[in-house]
Parts: sequence; structure tokens; C-alpha cells
Amino acid sequence: MARGVGHATAIYAKRAKNAEIWSEDGRRYIDFAAGIAVVNTGHQHPKIIAAVEEQLRAFSHVCFQVTPYETYIRLAERLNAIAPVPRPAKTMLVSTGAEAVENAVKVARAFTGRPGIVSFSGGFHGRTHMGMALTGKVVPYKKGFGPFPADVYNVAFPDTYHGVTVEQSLQSLNSLFKHAADPSSIAAIIIEPVQGEGGFNIAPFDFLRALRALCDEHSILLVADEIQTGFARTGRMFALEHAGIKADVVALAKGLAGGFPLSAITGRADVMDASQVGGLGGTYAGNPVACAAAHAVLDVIEEEKLCKRANTIGKIILDRCNRIKQRSNLNCVGDVRGLGAMCAIELVKDVSSGEPAPQLAAALLKTANEKGLILLSCGMNGNVIRFLVPLTASDALVREGMDIFEEGLTEAVNRTA
Ligand SMILES: Cc1ncc(COP(=O)(O)O)c(C=O)c1O
Repeated sequence: MARGVGHATAIYAKRAKNAEIWSEDGRRYIDFAAGIAVVNTGHQHPKIIAAVEEQLRAFSHVCFQVTPYETYIRLAERLNAIAPVPRPAKTMLVSTGAEAVENAVKVARAFTGRPGIVSFSGGFHGRTHMGMALTGKVVPYKKGFGPFPADVYNVAFPDTYHGVTVEQSLQSLNSLFKHAADPSSIAAIIIEPVQGEGGFNIAPFDFLRALRALCDEHSILLVADEIQTGFARTGRMFALEHAGIKADVVALAKGLAGGFPLSAITGRADVMDASQVGGLGGTYAGNPVACAAAHAVLDVIEEEKLCKRANTIGKIILDRCNRIKQRSNLNCVGDVRGLGAMCAIELVKDVSSGEPAPQLAAALLKTANEKGLILLSCGMNGNVIRFLVPLTASDALVREGMDIFEEGLTEAVNRTA
């Protein structure tokens, strides 16, 4: 396999159930990664598997753009009803997060007739060329892969822990409008309400509201990338709901189909309808098996009250992380943050300097693996540990995972001291 693909662990998966994975060599692991925020509804949820089996017996591919099928339409209707966008809304389905982002840019440009797109430092929007251009993290996502599409501008994400206030971020946008691109040339501003790869940085809600107002002032479309934050992860169906605003278009993927490749953009009907027929779509776009899974996912989120579960799980994780932060013998926790179950702990060399500790994070991931826990890091310096527990995990399993986490951190601190 190509070196560029890489893998975060050396654990070869053989079987998975809810929030546990069993490896080829027979070991059991608690899964705090959820396939990178995908299986919010747990591995092999019986309802999702049943829906998939039923669809498989009917047909697995005909191509929606040749012979359409009802499950796609019904899923579009469901997303139109729940997405944080104004009604009437419309939806199109594709397969990956990056593809959703590509299509959000396409419809925004087609609707506004403008070329410019603004994104944020530390943002991650996928590995296609537009995805890379929008992404505000060079290594590993952009280095060596340019040139990138033109008319993309990156401004500072409001991240008070790392020294960027809401005012400074808004200033960075105003300065862009003065120095580089007139607002009348900007089609859309794209933002993750909580940055994923960038370090689980939570955009302050007043910033999101200010961004909405700025977009309205200049007739710029607001695109929310809810690919990692969506589908109950943050304690609401979509993270934008916390700020009480709507985007013009949202990009959705990951948790949407519980492990089957499916993504969507849902947006204002006038924006979504701006492209000519045949300009959007794709051979596998809106695969029927993935659509069947997505319907079951939406049912499970509602039936099992997973938004509420996300808040309970998040509280267990944050309480524990805050207790760990108080342990003076560790002196390595710079910050603990989270929205619902999208939680993170930022590791530093020592609390007074606040210097990032990527080696400690790497040692912790390894120690956790040895002890039976799968964890992921993120952040501009690779020193943030993110918790992405399936929302169907029991409190007992989350606590067991957090025990391993704390033991692993203590051991990693001693190893790297
Ligand atoms: C916020 C965000 N946008 C876009 C993507 C890209 O999604 P995919 O890897 O499915 O292309 C990701 C993936 O991690 C993401 O977290």
C-alpha cells in the first residue's frame, strides 16, 4: 500500500460490536475513535444491519441518475426537514465528506456567480484539490500536493486558548476584504462549528452569529461543514443549533450512514437549484445500501435519544479530564474542552509554558493501544487527544475506557519524562 495512506494504530480489525473492536490476534479494544466520528450509532447496530440486509436483497446499485429510487428521495426529505438551513431546502447525495465539500463550493459559485471562498486556519475539509485548498493545515494534508485551486482565502479561526479572540478573527476577515478580495467577489465562507482535525476547537457561538450577520451584509453564503460535528455528536443533531443560526448550505457525511459511504449537502432550495441538470451527482452518489443505512441511523438517533446520550457521555469524559488536569504530578494538561461528546484534552510539556507535547500524545496513543483502548490525536501540533466514543456506548464502558486513558497517560508521562 502507498506510504501516504498510513494508519494510526497497528491493530488489524477482525470484528466489531457497538463500542468494541476485536483484532486479528484476538485482543479486545474499547473504541474511542468510532472510525473517525462515523459510527455514532455503534458498530453493527442491529437495526442498521437489518436495513442494509433488506436493501441488499432488493438491489445494491442501479445509479440514481439512471433509474432513481425512493429511499434517496425520502432521505433527502428527512435531511431537508432537520438540517440547520432555511426552508424550503433541497439535498443532494454523494459518497465522501470531501465530495460534499466540493459540491457545496460548486452550488455556492453557481448561485452567486462569484469565485471566492473563505475558510479558516486549522480547518479540515478533505483531501480532494478543493478540500486541500480550503484546509488550513499544511502537514500532512497539503505539503507537496499543490498547486491548489485559486480564489480560496484562509483567515484566522477564533480560538482563545491558542491566542485568537473573536474580535481578532473578525478583524482578519475584514482585513481580507480590504487587502485581498472585495466581499462582492466572495461566494461562500465555510466553517466547521467545532474544528475536527484542527484540534476540537469550538467556534464561540457569538462568533458564528457574527459570521452569519457578515454573510448577510455582503450576500455571501454561509457553508457549515458539519461532517465531523453532525448527527448528535455535539449533543444536538447539528452543532450549529447551539448558536441558534442557520447556514445556507451544510455539508454532511460520517455519522450520516453509520459506516456506509454516504455524504450530503442540504441547503436553501434556491441555492441548491442553481446548477444545470447533470452538473451534480456521480455514478455511486447516494448509493441505495448507504441510503438504507442512513434511514436506520436517523431512526436510531431518535429512538435511543443519542443527543441526550452525547451530553451524558461528554460529561463523564470532561469530568474525568478535569480531574486529571488537577493532578499536580502530571502537569501536562493545557486545556480540556468539549461540546456534547466531542471532547478533547490538550497535552503540553508543562502547564506554565503551555508548549505543545506531541511526543507525549504519541506515547499515550501507543500505551493506550497496549492497554486495550483505541484513541486518536488531532490539533495543529498533534498534541490534542480527541474522544470520539460511539454514542451507544454504556456509561460503564466509557468509564472503563477513561480508566485506561488515565493509566496510559500516567505511564506515558513517566516514559517521556
Ligand atoms: C470536517 C471535515 N470535513 C471534511 C472531511 C473529509 O471527509 P472524507 O474523509 O469523508 O472525505 C472530514 C474528514 O475527517 C472532516 O472531519
